[in-house]
Amino acid sequence: MSSTNSTNVSSFSEKMGQIEDSATLSVMGTIKGLIAQGVDIINLTAGEPDFSPPQCVNDAAIKAIQDGMGRYTPSAGLLELRETVAEVIGNEIGISYEAKNIVVSNGGKISIVQALMAILDDGDEVLIPFPSWTSYPEMVKLAGGVPVMVSCDENMLPDLDALESACTERTVAILLNTPSNPTGVVFSEDFTRQLGEWCLAKGLRVISDEMYCSLTYNGAKHYSPLVVVPELQKTSAWIGGMSKSFAMTGWRMGYFAGPADWAAIVARIQSQLTGSPNSISQYASIAGLKNGTAERETMRLEFEKRSRLITVGIANIEGISCPEPQGAFYCFVDISRLIGCTDASGITINNGDDFARLLLEVDKIATIGGSAFGGQNHFRLSFAAPEKELERALAKLSSRVSTLLTSGKNSAQTC
Ligand SMILES: Cc1ncc(COP(=O)(O)O)c(C=O)c1O
Repeated sequence: MSSTNSTNVSSFSEKMGQIEDSATLSVMGTIKGLIAQGVDIINLTAGEPDFSPPQCVNDAAIKAIQDGMGRYTPSAGLLELRETVAEVIGNEIGISYEAKNIVVSNGGKISIVQALMAILDDGDEVLIPFPSWTSYPEMVKLAGGVPVMVSCDENMLPDLDALESACTERTVAILLNTPSNPTGVVFSEDFTRQLGEWCLAKGLRVISDEMYCSLTYNGAKHYSPLVVVPELQKTSAWIGGMSKSFAMTGWRMGYFAGPADWAAIVARIQSQLTGSPNSISQYASIAGLKNGTAERETMRLEFEKRSRLITVGIANIEGISCPEPQGAFYCFVDISRLIGCTDASGITINNGDDFARLLLEVDKIATIGGSAFGGQNHFRLSFAAPEKELERALAKLSSRVSTLLTSGKNSAQTC
């Protein structure tokens, strides 16, 4: 007799066998679980601000619920929200869009996947400079494409020569991300121009993920490739959202902006997938975009302070290094000098993942190993955590690195 509970593993699709879990979300989930059980862990895994959304966001959501606005909306999102998003992109980024160019979705993640689904045929290739956000290659695969991972240069910037070599006749698009998760790098205007002009010359569609555009620090300015090389706007997409800028990760609000024909296909895909975006979050987002920018700036200033604290703290630890983050809220720390070291913990450091494991198991500091982002000798540290926690983590990090270097030398290793 067959049991309805038994699962025939071979019946799952081959395509889904190629898709990885989100490495960051699974580590974050595990750590949140341990903390909930009372384990004292300094949590530097967060891909989300440790702030509350602006008060106007909460108020608008409560009002929308009380007014009975929890119904389906148009597939592409409420007209008022799309108009507001277009206005904000015009004022803050410098691209002129109308509502017909905007599709609001349940988070930037699905905005990117739908943008890819709209342009990729099976086997089409998408360039992804790495280190990069862990989800990009999986998103391309989900949309039927082939992710082509291209190593960045020593400054963690997309490498034009390497991109040129990776381009084939199947290459249709490139995924760009500034400010970057995981490196905190922000493209300069000159670099953005070189890169944008190269994309234009190659006839590539750019999907420009600018999710962290409002979070830049210490004088760094955000440049969109679609503004620096405006010709790209005809064929390229701009991705943004409420998660990072307005501390609204769980509200799930992202947006696609692009040519009207591309937006129409994205809206069609969405009409068959999620139907329409969360209505209450849409009303809340209108309020946030219109009236929440002062609180957004307060949060940015706090992140700026922390970025300095972390940069100075790491610069003072001999044996590890990271470029000063100019945006987002991450440091991508290079631990190459520790490769081969073992201390009393018994964990040998062969890569950044080993180091992240050592930090978690012994020092109770949670970070994310670099392999999730394509950085073998790195780990990602999020400074979306209170200053006191960051200071505590820096002190522990410093003594761990020093112990590793000393132990390594004692056992005649070159640490
Ligand atoms: C670079 C980047 N893009 C897009 C997203 C998607 O954000 P969300 O789906 O929360 O809007 C994230 C989230 O971590 C991200 O880091």
